[in-house]
Amino acid sequence: MTDTIGVVILAAGKGTRMKVPTPKALMPALGKSLLDYVIEESFSFAKSVKLPCEIGVVVGHLKEELISHLADKFPNSPLKTAIQREQNGTADALKACFSDHPHFWNHTYTLVACADTPLIRATDFEKLFTTLKNNSQLVGVAASFHLENPTGYGRMVRAANGFHIVEEKDATEVERKMTEVNSGFYILKTSHVKDVLGKISNKNKSGEFYLTDLFQDSFNVEAICFEDGTPFLGVNTMEQLAEVSKELRARHTQKLMVSGVRFLNPESTYIESSVEIGVGSVIYPNVTFLGNTKIGENTVIESGTFIKDSTIANEVQILANSYIEESIIGTGASVGPMARLRPGTEIGTKAKIGNFVEIKKSKLAAGAKVSHLSYVGDAEIGENSNIGCGFITCNYDGANKHKTKIGSNTFVGSDVQMIAPIEIGDNAFIGAGSTITKSVPSEGFAIARSQQVTKEGMAKKFLKTKKSE
Ligand code: UD1
Ligand code: MG
Repeated sequence: MTDTIGVVILAAGKGTRMKVPTPKALMPALGKSLLDYVIEESFSFAKSVKLPCEIGVVVGHLKEELISHLADKFPNSPLKTAIQREQNGTADALKACFSDHPHFWNHTYTLVACADTPLIRATDFEKLFTTLKNNSQLVGVAASFHLENPTGYGRMVRAANGFHIVEEKDATEVERKMTEVNSGFYILKTSHVKDVLGKISNKNKSGEFYLTDLFQDSFNVEAICFEDGTPFLGVNTMEQLAEVSKELRARHTQKLMVSGVRFLNPESTYIESSVEIGVGSVIYPNVTFLGNTKIGENTVIESGTFIKDSTIANEVQILANSYIEESIIGTGASVGPMARLRPGTEIGTKAKIGNFVEIKKSKLAAGAKVSHLSYVGDAEIGENSNIGCGFITCNYDGANKHKTKIGSNTFVGSDVQMIAPIEIGDNAFIGAGSTITKSVPSEGFAIARSQQVTKEGMAKKFLKTKKSE
């Protein structure tokens, strides 16, 4: 019979030490939940191990949130969810998986993973599995590592023939000083789990059922002490969350550099794991790129720029301190410095958006220019049209939003307001300082400002001299 593996991810805990109400497994690190990382690595282990694998996730505290998160993030996936009704410890959590899905007992091996360990990699699972598989006498393998400050972790207490694990709360002074810690990742023969799981007691300082009791000096078990413990760093506190996020960030930036992205100061960027950047792009220090953001090739992004859920094409220049959300920017366009592109903005090829320009839900065609101090909302601007400084689309009447449409090759002078709804044709010319209230046809000229009055010599009537004090 073919060997099979049940992978059980424990995600039911409250995460009391995080102090916030969000279930710990759903805490975000570099744009994804802690749990997502562990699930993704479990899937890739399942692929690489070439044995039938089944993945179970044990949920409990705020289970509805976790269940809907799983449905959202892993739709149509074969994940099995089990429910731990009360959070009585890690052994009790594993038990919940077997009671909800009794066929997990049929798997030859059971791999246990903690949801609060997002740096884990499929290769670490493989190492544990190979060790167990290659030694038929063994019933379980645990992963351990050394930590200078082991606070919070279970300690590996080595004996002449084996080892056991002591939780910090239950540890003696001597045991607390031990620096080899338990990672919370194990692979076991399911038959061993079946023999021992039901017998684990909760007679300890926490009153919980510890999964670590599957490992005893008298059992034929092994602990692999990993030289680099980074993949096993667990998140129990906000401080540890920041620590793993830093490592995830470094990994992602490293991956981008390997693929040909140039960072002027990689340590000072915050780029979520979902963000893609093309070869030859140059990223200045102190930028934030979030969510579903795709940046093309040979694009330059200067300091202080924030980009969320946006697509930036090749050869784009985003100048310093620009803020871009749910927008699309075409090839060769230039944006900023200090531009704000709000959701629904599309900037065409080689278009130019200059400083202190805000654009919302608007489409600017190729070569259009809005170079200085303007608000463009609910508008369409055609190819190669030039919008002068201080332009405003008056799109809101206090109740509803209205559209402004400007054709191609049209020139709009500085300090123009357009009272929407309004439509300006192609090749039109709007004089500076105009408040345009009526549509202008193609090739039309419109000016709407009061006549200038000049009176020679009359200035002295208005010039006031300061009274001497
Ligand atoms: C656990 C280990 C500890 C190890 C550490 C590594 C035990 C008893 N201790 O401690 O030896 O050094 O991980 O990071 O196993 N969970 C449930 N149900 C529960 C309790 C916990 O599903 O009733 C889940 C949590 O959501 C979490 C995982 O199990 O994903 C580990 O629980 P946590 O409370 O973080 O255990 P640690 O104290 O870190
Ligand atoms: Mg933990």
